[in-house]
Amino acid sequence: MPLDPSLERLIRRLPKVELHLHIEGTLEPEMMFALAGKHGVALPYDSVEAVRRAYAFHDLQSFLDLYYAGCDVLRDRRDFYTLAMAYFARAHADNVVHAELFFDPQTHTARGIPLEVVFGGLRDAMEDAQRRYGLTSELILCFLRHLSEEDAFATLDAALPFRSEFIGVGLDSGERGNPPSKFERVFAKARDLGLRPVAHAGEEGPAAYIHEALDLLKVERIDHGVRCDEDPALVERLARDHIPLTVCPLSNLKLCVVKDLADHNFAALLRRGVAVTINSDDPAYFGGYIADNYRATAAATGLTAAELVTCAENAARASFLPTPARDGLLAQIRAEAARA
Ligand code: ADE
Ligand code: ZN
Repeated sequence: MPLDPSLERLIRRLPKVELHLHIEGTLEPEMMFALAGKHGVALPYDSVEAVRRAYAFHDLQSFLDLYYAGCDVLRDRRDFYTLAMAYFARAHADNVVHAELFFDPQTHTARGIPLEVVFGGLRDAMEDAQRRYGLTSELILCFLRHLSEEDAFATLDAALPFRSEFIGVGLDSGERGNPPSKFERVFAKARDLGLRPVAHAGEEGPAAYIHEALDLLKVERIDHGVRCDEDPALVERLARDHIPLTVCPLSNLKLCVVKDLADHNFAALLRRGVAVTINSDDPAYFGGYIADNYRATAAATGLTAAELVTCAENAARASFLPTPARDGLLAQIRAEAARA
């Protein structure tokens, strides 16, 4: 279904907050090739087109295998800066005004890249994005759930010298067989340190993992969470307790979580009163940045103008922005909605 031009204009104009974005997932094939050339890394592809052709995934793991391999070209501080700056420029073009970025330190430390390099490059870009575009951002350190609890504890300890540079902790990577309960103690420690907890749950894993993330990890947002509808009492709980879901519709399509966007439960959850938000996850791999996700979801599920505004408001409310900034942003969203 083509998108109504008035909805297209509204989507372009709405001030957006991105809450589910893996910075490593913004590595476009062109940059992958440029960095591979810079560092003399051999890629298993002979062209940018061949890389894009390889992005035909059948599940989360088939994507993660390529995503972790792609990270190998990120080697020095400038690489992390270049990666993040390209994302910020693209996000600014979509009118993103605030972004809370996931990063996977274990993917880099396991290759011998010091945390100082990762934090340094990302921080340089975050400062430049604020100066250049007025785009504010925060970092959320994700633990890889396919690795051990011990490895997660070691990662948190190693990140403590950089404590002021990240706002929260998250949980990502292969969900099946890696329940939130595995990380209960490391999340307790992170919360004691004042870190805001979030976790991927209910992407490929069952609704029970969403309950675990809430009850054991005490997360403030659920990343994905789309399988919540297998448990009506859970949907009721999410709506009643205003627990935001950071949904990534084009990711769900590419990773075969849904067969067709028209089958996506996004609109149903929104209409049920769940605080759903629209995000891009790993846009270089899934074929769309945040505005593309807004457009595709609106077109496929029939979101109205008022519902699109609610999505933008949900994201502002679900952010970890200080209250005055959040209220200012909500006022801006309402002003744009009134103009549309
Ligand atoms: N890491 C990067 N993208 C992810 C996703 N969609 N699910 C789990 N881990 C991820
Ligand atoms: Zn994700």
